[in-house]
Amino acid sequence: MHQALLIPEVLLEIFSHVTEEPPESSTGVTTGVVSLSQKSLAALATICKAFYEPAMDLLWSEINISESLLGCVTRLHPLIYRGGGLWNWAVGVRPLSVDEAHQFLRHSARIRSLIMLSNRLLHLFSDIPVMLYDFPRLMSLTISTRYLNFLLSHTLHRHHLATVDEDIQPIVTRFAALERLRIFTPDTINAVDSTADALFRISDVVRLCKQLVTLSCPLFDWAAWTHISNLSTLTRVDVGDTLTDATPPSPLERDITNFSPFSNVTALSFLLHGAAYAITVMQRSQFPSLKEFRLDVRVLSSPEAEQLFRALSKCKACETLEKILVYSLRHEHNDPQTNSLSVIPYLLCFTQLRTLDLACYDLCINLDDVILLEAMSAWPHMRNLEIEDSRFDYSPITFRGIFTMLRLCPQLDTLNISIDTTTVDIDPDVEPAQHTSLRILRLNTPGHQIPNAEALAHIIFSCLPRINRVDGYVESKWDEVNMHLKSLKDAALHATGAASNT
Ligand SMILES: *[C@@H]1O[C@H](CO)[C@@H](O)[C@H](O)[C@H]1NC(C)=O
Ligand SMILES: *[C@@H]1O[C@H](CO)[C@@H](O)[C@H](O)[C@H]1NC(C)=O
Ligand SMILES: *[C@@H]1O[C@H](CO)[C@@H](O)[C@H](O)[C@H]1NC(C)=O
Ligand SMILES: *[C@@H]1O[C@H](CO)[C@@H](O)[C@H](O)[C@H]1NC(C)=O
Repeated sequence: MHQALLIPEVLLEIFSHVTEEPPESSTGVTTGVVSLSQKSLAALATICKAFYEPAMDLLWSEINISESLLGCVTRLHPLIYRGGGLWNWAVGVRPLSVDEAHQFLRHSARIRSLIMLSNRLLHLFSDIPVMLYDFPRLMSLTISTRYLNFLLSHTLHRHHLATVDEDIQPIVTRFAALERLRIFTPDTINAVDSTADALFRISDVVRLCKQLVTLSCPLFDWAAWTHISNLSTLTRVDVGDTLTDATPPSPLERDITNFSPFSNVTALSFLLHGAAYAITVMQRSQFPSLKEFRLDVRVLSSPEAEQLFRALSKCKACETLEKILVYSLRHEHNDPQTNSLSVIPYLLCFTQLRTLDLACYDLCINLDDVILLEAMSAWPHMRNLEIEDSRFDYSPITFRGIFTMLRLCPQLDTLNISIDTTTVDIDPDVEPAQHTSLRILRLNTPGHQIPNAEALAHIIFSCLPRINRVDGYVESKWDEVNMHLKSLKDAALHATGAASNT
């Protein structure tokens, strides 16, 4: 064997390519099927002593607590694999004994990334003393609140993990070193009690983490926010879950002080029922590095929208924010006629903005030609502009407005906006300048047919060379324009073909 292969770092580097799966097997592990890379690593581990450690380190570096893994417990193996493996094989099966747990977790020291989501398997772990869950190299944990409750209930006698006795020190240390934490609420939790309980546990756990880089989890309390706001390692925070029907229990102590600046956070997102929680966070924070902000809510009233966009504009991200995405659904309590807010003026300070996607179906954003022009003067780097105005029967934006605006944003790639098509108010003989970036044009057209489709197609053909068709919500409205556009393109193609043949 070549001497180079005796250096563990060299072997690790070589073996790490084994874990790059070919695309067709990218689904990885499923019940009873071991992925190709796992097989290869297992084979490498048996070749010689020198290969064993690095191959095993890689084989066990990412572990998803799942059926296939439990297959290595002798008692469970036949249950899992006999008869092709029934999905409910674990029902009524006795939990792992301490000996079995020793066997199952004997490689836990190699685990860097651990996934514990399968609630069907949870009871199998209920008899294992918590001391066995020792993962000294763990960096990334993806866990459901069920497993979390269960791990902590072994150890938690007091209210806060921060004030702990010695027997849970290993767990505290493990969380302190985590770089990636993802917590999921199982879909089946709907009682408010268990949500409140989860919030409490999650807040505790978040406060234990001292080196987080990314955090993705359901709601947590302000003390935990205060804690993470001072983590200089933190780059990404995704908060909320899909339980959008449950009104979140209020973790909101009234007198929250301002948070530390999230100095290194570049991406922040919320998935919530209402916007209040996100507004509170934004009002108390500075995000001097923020590049991406996303909010998904069910309901957004205009006073909430006002507070939200005001807070966003004041949070020190004016020079950095590149992407703003805000979505809300149509809600019976909010009538777009009265639920209206001129949002754009709050966003003019974001000079680096590249993507703005506002789809608030219950909020009227009051867009018109003048505001659009003002916005584009403020956002010279804009690439994707998608705005839903919720005035479904009327739009004050004109073709002239759009072509004037296009001159100010040479990098625009996607435009999705509503437009008044009753008049095509551009003079085809005084054509606007060419815009060579725009690739996707979706124009929502309230009400009317498009007059003068041929002239419009001609303008699009000569000024927007990358647009092959215009899309709309009601596609048929653009049929005539698209038909003319297609014949212009075909004719041009034919002409170049003919020219190159001569
Ligand atoms: C973990 O394994 C289960 C069962 O094999 C699978 O359904 C799930 O998608 C895996 N989770 C992740 C995050 O890889
Ligand atoms: C923030 O963290 C630093 C160390 O990283 C610490 O000295 C400081 O006290 C913390 N501030 C707050 C408000 O917790
Ligand atoms: C900030 O984030 C970057 C990655 O985006 C990372 O390389 C850097 O180390 C982080 N800063 C601190 C102080 O952790
Ligand atoms: C943009 O267009 C697509 C399809 O035409 C639509 O589904 C989407 O909601 C539009 N609006 C925004 C703001 O993204």
